Order: sequence, then C-alpha cells, then structure tokens
Amino acid sequence: MSAKKTEEEISNLSVGLAPMEGVTDFATRLWIAQNGAPDFTTTPFLRVTKDYPSKRISANFLPEIQLSKEHGIVPCIPQLMASSEDDLIRIAGHFLEKVGFIDINCGCPSPTVVGHGAGSSLLQNPDRFSEYLERIISACGAGKISVKMRLGFHHENEFARLLEILRNLPLARLTVHGRTRADRYTGSARWSFIGEAARRLPYPVFGSGDVVSASSLQTRYKDAPQVAGVIIGRGALRDPWIFARLRDPSLRVGKEEFRLRLIQFIVLQEVQALAAETLPELAGGGIFAFPSESERRNLREFILKQLNAVFCKVPSMANFNPEDPAQWTLGRASLARGKMLWNYLRSGLGVAPELTTRILRAPTWVGFIEALDDIVVQLPEDDVGLTHRPEWDWVYAGAGHTGQAAERE
Ligand SMILES: Cc1cc2nc3c(=O)[nH]c(=O)nc-3n(C[C@H](O)[C@H](O)[C@H](O)COP(=O)(O)O)c2cc1C
Repeated sequence: MSAKKTEEEISNLSVGLAPMEGVTDFATRLWIAQNGAPDFTTTPFLRVTKDYPSKRISANFLPEIQLSKEHGIVPCIPQLMASSEDDLIRIAGHFLEKVGFIDINCGCPSPTVVGHGAGSSLLQNPDRFSEYLERIISACGAGKISVKMRLGFHHENEFARLLEILRNLPLARLTVHGRTRADRYTGSARWSFIGEAARRLPYPVFGSGDVVSASSLQTRYKDAPQVAGVIIGRGALRDPWIFARLRDPSLRVGKEEFRLRLIQFIVLQEVQALAAETLPELAGGGIFAFPSESERRNLREFILKQLNAVFCKVPSMANFNPEDPAQWTLGRASLARGKMLWNYLRSGLGVAPELTTRILRAPTWVGFIEALDDIVVQLPEDDVGLTHRPEWDWVYAGAGHTGQAAERE
C-alpha cells in the first residue's frame, strides 16, 4: 500500500474520545470537544446495579442528547456496565429513546467490578459472554448495542473464541482495547488482534490503545488497516488538541491559549459543581462553542467574555473577575479536578518535574494560578509543544497520584 494511500485512509478514520471513568465527565467532554473536536466522545461507564440508578440518571451523565452540534457539542455514546442483563436492559431503554446505540463495558479490569461479574469478568466464560449479549440484543434490538472489550481475561489466545461469538451478533460496532485484563495497562496494545477483528466482523471495529500522535496512529493502523476508527484516551489527556492535530499536523497551541484553556477547564468544573443544571443550558446557548477564526485571533478577550457570561448565571459567582487570581476561591472539588488534568497535561510539556509538582501541591486556586504562571512564562510563545514523552508514562501507569487509573476501566 502506498504511503499516500495510507495517509488518505487514516484521514478518513473516525477518531473519538475514549471513555474514562473519573475523567470524562460532561464538563471535560465539552472542554476536549472545544479544543480538539473529536468525531465523537463517550461517557465513562455508568455502573448499573439493581438499585442504581434508582429513579433518575444524573443530569450530567449525557446532556449532549439535548444539545446540537452548533454549540460545540459532538455526538456522545453512553456506556453502561452491569453484571445482570436485566438491570442493563432496564436502563438501556431509557437511552435508546434518544441515542442510536449504547456501549457495553466488557473490559473493566478493576477487582471490585470483576468480583461482581461485570466488565472484563464477562470475557472469562465465553458461554456466559454469549448469553449475556444475546439477551441484551434481543431486548434492545439489532444494531442498538456496541461492545467495548479487551483481548481476553487471562490471555490473548482467548480472543479467537470471543470473536466467533461476536461474529454472529448484530452489533452496532465493536471497540477492542488491545490488551488483556491480566495486562491491565502494562506492555503495548496488540493491534494485530484488533486488525483480525476488523477483518472478520461484519460491522465497524474501532481500535483502542496507545494512539498518542500521528506517527503512532500510522504504526497502529498498519497492523489493523480495516478498522473504521480509533478512540484515544490517555493521549487526549496529555494533549487535548490531539484530534485537531491529527487532521492538521501544523496545529500550534500558543502559551496564552494553553493557559486560558486550562483556566476555562477549571471554570467549567466549577459551574458543573455549583450549578450543574446550568451547564447544558449555557452550552446550548453557545457560550462554550468553539471560537470562530476572528475570536481565535483574540482568544484572551473571547475567553474573558465567556467567563463573565458564565458567572452571571451562577448566583454565587456573579461578581467573579477571572483576571484577578485573588478571587479564585473556588471549591475543593474543582481544584482537585484542575490538578487531575494538570497531572496529565504536564506529562506532555517537558518541563522540569519540580516545577510541575508545585501546581499539584497548591493549597488554593491562587497558588495554582501563580505556579501555573511561573511555568507558562518558560514555555515557547507559539507552541507549548505537547507531545508524548515516554519518561512521563508513569503518570498513567497506576503509580503515584493517579494510582486509581489502572483499576478504573
Ligand atoms: C483513567 C482511565 C479510566 C478509564 N475508564 C474507562 C471506562 O469507563 N470505560 C471503558 O470502556 N474504558 C475505560 N478506560 C480505558 C480506555 O477507554 C482505553 O481503552 C485505554 O485507556 C487504552 O487507550 P489509550 O492508550 O488511548 O488510553 C479507562 C482508561 C483510563 C486511563
């Protein structure tokens, strides 16, 4: 296959934001959609048990269904996880009135989830896997369910049998994370297995695992050229602009934009924490829409205008002045969310670790912004240079600050 042809095919792939429990809440999806504009996003899993969600699903779980594309919203796929088919079917019905299909999590490696017979536990017993999916599909309908799974529970040689089962099911799509449950997040994702699924299955197959740049996408694609698309998880936390960068490799993110977008993330989190119900309405009103070209030329003005417009709607923040860090007395939850994002972003920046840690230790917003400004000063003016730096991979590997990551899926 010629390099030119491959390039063209890759540019036609559908590229979405991977589901990430504890990370990709509505405010974060909105923010990533603004920056990188993926083709679609996915909710983190909604854990469905007998009693949960009892009466109503959180308003923040999938507000995208009320909003349109003009508002910077991209289509979002809801993901559910359950050990009982009946529980899953009960909740799936609620979403299927509004979305084309729902995704079922068959990949979560967490010991708690596996202990309850959900997530990747379903891969352990092919008969159970088959019965589980057949029952859900017969209740929800052909083409109404997609599955996200790993290569197997203990070993990748379990995959062939699972594919046999999947071949006979009328799924909307299959997403394969090219690792086993035993791997958790160690080693590299094996894309040749994803390629095998894409060759053999009669519906679209999406690949997941270790896409961190245009060149890594090219390498993975060579092993799985039949995929319909890919999803990006950790790569989008390191570089939230990655989706736009894959479309336009010359994309640059200047330090002013970087700083303001990070502040905007915090604002979105605060609005979500203080008055979650206003977030869809504000987004629906276009407040967070992707800036036009002329707005992008004066991004700073644009974001300040946005912030003021947002805070007028939140009574306790009506007099907030985003230019004055002394006023950043925001809630602890938003501070924690900002630190979480920073922990991921710093792995793409290549700044000395001691400097980046100051932000994580900041006791207040003032400290956070001050420490951020000290770093931003040192970044190149035109492009902060977010890129995959393998020496920082430990941030995602289940050690240190984000220790839960490895257990979360
Ligand atoms: C913090 C974190 C949370 C995750 N949560 C979910 C989840 O809720 N549902 C799911 O199917 N996968 C989840 N995953 C797995 C990702 O969707 C993805 O398949 C995996 O991280 C490999 O892709 P990547 O190398 O692009 O990150 C999670 C991964 C991480 C790092």
